Amino acid sequence: MKDLETDLEQRRVDGLYRRRRVIESAQGIETRIDGKNLLSFCSNDYLGLANHPEIKQACLDAVTDHGVGSGAAHLINGHSRLHEACEQRLAEFSGRERALLFSTGYMANIALASTLLGRNDFIYQDKLNHASLIDSAKLSNARLIRYRHNDMRQLETLLSESPRGRRRLVMVDAVFSMDGDCADVETISKLALEYNAWSMVDDAHGFGVLGARGAGLLEHLQLDQQQVPILMATLGKAVGTAGAFVAGSEVLIETLIQKARPYIYTTASPPAIAAATLKSIDLIERDSWRREKLNDSIAYFREQAGTLELELMPSQSAIQPLVVGDNHKALALSESLFEQGIHVTAIRPPTVPAGSARLRVTLSAAHEREHIDRLIKHLKLLL
Ligand SMILES: Cc1ncc(COP(=O)(O)O)c(C=O)c1O
Repeated sequence: MKDLETDLEQRRVDGLYRRRRVIESAQGIETRIDGKNLLSFCSNDYLGLANHPEIKQACLDAVTDHGVGSGAAHLINGHSRLHEACEQRLAEFSGRERALLFSTGYMANIALASTLLGRNDFIYQDKLNHASLIDSAKLSNARLIRYRHNDMRQLETLLSESPRGRRRLVMVDAVFSMDGDCADVETISKLALEYNAWSMVDDAHGFGVLGARGAGLLEHLQLDQQQVPILMATLGKAVGTAGAFVAGSEVLIETLIQKARPYIYTTASPPAIAAATLKSIDLIERDSWRREKLNDSIAYFREQAGTLELELMPSQSAIQPLVVGDNHKALALSESLFEQGIHVTAIRPPTVPAGSARLRVTLSAAHEREHIDRLIKHLKLLL
């Protein structure tokens, strides 16, 4: 254990030590943490649905009828009528043949690469992909090849160099979780089709927020199941509930049900979560005003933050990082904002590359202009 102590101490010295804060209120833009009332800019609850009364009621009603725990894995007797209905709704909403629920996005990603590929196969990933995609490739035993961020020429070169006849999968974040910019999914889809590879998009940060009905980046770009055969999206961010789903062809989903270990060997998530998700999808599809309001806030934040002495990133999404660089400085800024009643987390390596520590500001449809003004005013005082 001495080794571990030294390791932890080194993290402190490097400004990399992480600490959990205890949230005492529901998710929302106004939270209470460690006994302090805060204005929050660090949740992925982009539409402000995590504490929505209709979604909570749907969840409570389902608990009354179905209890809390699912009791078993989906293939034993944990697959409830609500899970089934939720999968059908997600398939229809995302314009895919079928969908499959997972307990977390991390597990869904692990399931994909490790079920569909093996030794001697090839996986191509953007350097800025989420850790769960990287881990999924590692667990698959396939060869992981990473290309420079959004560098489509390099991806094409790499695809053209690898031997044909092997399975090849390109996996990418739709919206990069720590930078907020989008992948060039149209080109990725074209290249994958040209070089006989599959493409997979992780729409964790686009689902609910992008597209005319909120069905995500693929809806926005009008890319169907033939063009992007594998879609994964999480439900714990804009949808405001928990878990994730994979959507695609009948063959893809049936293969995952039969073979994916992170699907088979785990207890199904509570059926009430599926009921909450069903209600949330209805609200997302019905109410475009939340997406419009969020887009207004994104534009307003970028306009106001342009006057700060911190670098804005080229992001049009709800993720608006402000790059600080130094780990200690990013942490100190986050702590000072916290003292002023504003919560923005500092993101440090290894989540982002060394030397690019940042304040990851996330916006929500629940934010008003005066909230953004408050954040900018305090940042100006601190810089
Ligand atoms: C791009 C991306 N993929 C996957 C995940 C994992 O999803 P989950 O939190 O549901 O495990 C996250 C974040 O959590 C993410 O940002």
